[in-house]
Amino acid sequence: MFNRRRFLFLSSLAIGACSARPLAQTITKADTPAAASAAPAASPASPAPPSSPTRPPNFGKAIGPAELFAPKRGDVRAVVISDLNARYGSVDYRREVMKGVSILPQWEPDIVLCVGDMVAGQSISLSKPEVEAMWQGFDDLILSPIREADIPFALTIGNHDASSLNYEGGYVYSTDREVTTHYWKTHQDSLDLQYDDTGNFPYYYSFKQNDIFYLVWDASSANIPENQVAWADQQLSSAAAQAAKFRIALGHLPLYAISQGRDRNGELLNNSDQLQALLERHHVHTYMSGHHHAYYPGYAGNLQLLHCGALGSGPRTWLDRTDAAMQTMTVLDFFFDSGETVYTTYNMNSMELVDNQTLPRQIVGPTGRVLRNDITLSDLTAAEQRQEYVRSEN
Ligand SMILES: [Fe+2]
Repeated sequence: MFNRRRFLFLSSLAIGACSARPLAQTITKADTPAAASAAPAASPASPAPPSSPTRPPNFGKAIGPAELFAPKRGDVRAVVISDLNARYGSVDYRREVMKGVSILPQWEPDIVLCVGDMVAGQSISLSKPEVEAMWQGFDDLILSPIREADIPFALTIGNHDASSLNYEGGYVYSTDREVTTHYWKTHQDSLDLQYDDTGNFPYYYSFKQNDIFYLVWDASSANIPENQVAWADQQLSSAAAQAAKFRIALGHLPLYAISQGRDRNGELLNNSDQLQALLERHHVHTYMSGHHHAYYPGYAGNLQLLHCGALGSGPRTWLDRTDAAMQTMTVLDFFFDSGETVYTTYNMNSMELVDNQTLPRQIVGPTGRVLRNDITLSDLTAAEQRQEYVRSEN
């Protein structure tokens, strides 16, 4: 599934400079139709790849908001947003969130994927009307503009939306859970998703959109119950899932810790070895997560791991680093012929592209190592291979 050529390709496409001028990127391998189609705007024109019956008419075109770097469009394009919320109980959003929502239609995505923490719950001091007011704020400021732009919207529930944390058989944040369930049940049929199994929407469900199969599970706390894991196993083994061009899984908590202050029990999924093996067994391409508030395009084993940065409050930096944290937003292009995905990620403070080469080559956490998506184990120096986990201080 993975090879070095692919990593180089992914890396090269993530290299960025100032977003207001042509991208100084290097296409390491441009010998495939998909790679040629994704070459930078400044490159000599490449012959257009043969079109497939389902290929969108704007395939290969540079599309994005004015003044920003415009990535070349794949067969399918998603805009990925995560961790939108501000302080507990807030009914509005930081300017980076508002900016991102206002310009995201200009990337002409086929879908918006929201990886959780849309509102700022998870406080037992919030009343039911206060939780309802937060969802009304989300509805007015986030979901409505996206749906008015006629873009399908998919979500996974975060700990601040409706944590699945249990105590003595009941939800600790039962009000969050109740209000969130009601809000999303009333929107289930208006998100323009082609559901495969509505499961227990919005907590776990599957859908197939533009020939991509998406599995969403409830990673709003560290524990995914066995019955839900069994459901995921069945879903991913289905004919619909296996016939898809890509299989993608979404959950709020990641499989590995990547950011400071989040390398703690409860901040990443329990039984991550079992869950990763499940995803790998069914040839899931990417597991997308949020919660750690730091963009990191990595992989472990045969599974790509897209750690989405926060668009809202509280961005964090990576383990073992001292960089300033940044709000980010990612455009994800899927290329069917090559089976590749390309990330174009924007620093939403500066609106510049995030340069892949400035990100850690690896992140060693308490439960394992995540490699940057252009790095193989053999690329690591002896010192990097010996690197041990160091617990973050804050
Ligand atoms: Fe979270």
